[in-house]
Amino acid sequence: MGSNRGANRREAAAGRPDAPARQILPRQAKRDLRTTPAWTTFLPSVSALWSFVFGNDRPVEIEIGPGRGDVLMTFAAARPEVNFFAIEHVRGAVEYVQARVAHAGFENVRVLAADARCVVTRIVPPASVAAYHVYFPDPWPKRRHRKRRLVDVALAAALRRTLVPGGAVHVATDLRDLFEDIRAALVAGGLQPSPTQAAPARPVTRFERKYAAAGTHAGSFVAG
Ligand SMILES: C[S@@+](CC[C@H](N)C(=O)[O-])C[C@H]1O[C@@H](n2cnc3c(N)ncnc32)[C@H](O)[C@@H]1O
Repeated sequence: MGSNRGANRREAAAGRPDAPARQILPRQAKRDLRTTPAWTTFLPSVSALWSFVFGNDRPVEIEIGPGRGDVLMTFAAARPEVNFFAIEHVRGAVEYVQARVAHAGFENVRVLAADARCVVTRIVPPASVAAYHVYFPDPWPKRRHRKRRLVDVALAAALRRTLVPGGAVHVATDLRDLFEDIRAALVAGGLQPSPTQAAPARPVTRFERKYAAAGTHAGSFVAG
């Protein structure tokens, strides 16, 4: 009953262009709004987003769904000349990774709690990302859950739009079918498999150790 009233109120507010965000957004999004870093407030006026976020103009690589952050930590330590931006939608995981980053004293890492699909599609500036890393995305094996998968054509198009010329999307998964679906989505979004561009060496994560005993399917994709 209560949640219906909330939904009705949100629906009415959504029709009004002057309605404050707090009237439109559902509860989780309101929580996100409270804890989202302040730079999002200035987005409309920020043309050079990454220099604002990192305080320098180094190349930016994005990891989507870092989980416990094993790959992120390794990359950040091995390549301090690169800025790493991780987007993870599970808040507990974000806090865990942020604590690891702080403990290691890495200044080239930022971790954002958000849906990567929303951030990449709406916030990341065009031609601004040197590489995307997508390792072991959730498989959502049931057919009726497929629409929850991370990589679809819309995301693929956004990845392509936001990559710098020569930039790449690196993908790995334990499931051949999922890899083929991701490949199809990326190709439909304007990317193509690159036989020459390889992902940087990454550690085997706990997830990979547990689920990829039968092998890992990996590939890199560049703008076609
Ligand atoms: C199966 S885990 C793999 C974690 C890590 N990449 C690894 O290899 O160990 C998938 C991760 O992607 C995150 N994730 C899934 N969909 C996401 C989305 N739309 N935006 C951000 N993170 C997402 C999940 O919360 C989870 O941490």
